[in-house]
Amino acid sequence: ATYKIGYLVGSLASNSINRILSKALIKLAPEELEFSEVPIKDLPLYSPDYDADYPPAGRAFKDAVAASDGILFVSPEYNRSIPGALKNAIDWGSRPWGTNSFARKPTGIIGTSPGSIGTAVMQSSMRSVLSFLDAPQLNAPEAYIKFNKDVFAEDGAVSDSHTAELLRHYMEEYSAFVQRVLAANAPGHI
Ligand code: FNR
Repeated sequence: ATYKIGYLVGSLASNSINRILSKALIKLAPEELEFSEVPIKDLPLYSPDYDADYPPAGRAFKDAVAASDGILFVSPEYNRSIPGALKNAIDWGSRPWGTNSFARKPTGIIGTSPGSIGTAVMQSSMRSVLSFLDAPQLNAPEAYIKFNKDVFAEDGAVSDSHTAELLRHYMEEYSAFVQRVLAANAPGHI
């Protein structure tokens, strides 16, 4: 079987190191995972005024999340938290009230930063948000990646074997986690 993974890059930067990390993760992931990006950059700022008549961008975002077996967030840390563009996308997915797209959706959170905490505080913030949205999260392993351009090529090739092994292991565990949650969500299970 194959599993559809929608990934969100939490950066709008054209030279995003998190986009490079997303390419590395896709290269190293087990073959049962198929990836497609869930774009966030064209979403307007969310307002409850949109709830009565969700605009196409908001609808497309919710549809893309719904079509994914699992969601992977690959994001920078901004000011010790979640980048506004990513939080805005999550807010779009969470509404209109009663149609939270993230409920029971298996998720993974990973990110890279030039600093040595490697997005740890962003990831912690994301866990609070995703817990509230009832999204199961891969709890272990965690991966806090300090970006090094000598390790990550722009196409996502990883030259350091230790880093490559860490990321490969992360994606193997993520795949197993997605499959466990899908099984638990299947009709007939409590
Ligand atoms: C940052 N950066 C940053 N880094 C970090 O480790 N912790 C932080 O809290 C912040 N805060 C922050 C705020 C803002 C507004 C910017 C623009 C940047 C630095 C950040 O990690 C660096 O710019 C990365 O390159 C961002 O990832 P992308 O956009 O290259 O994927």
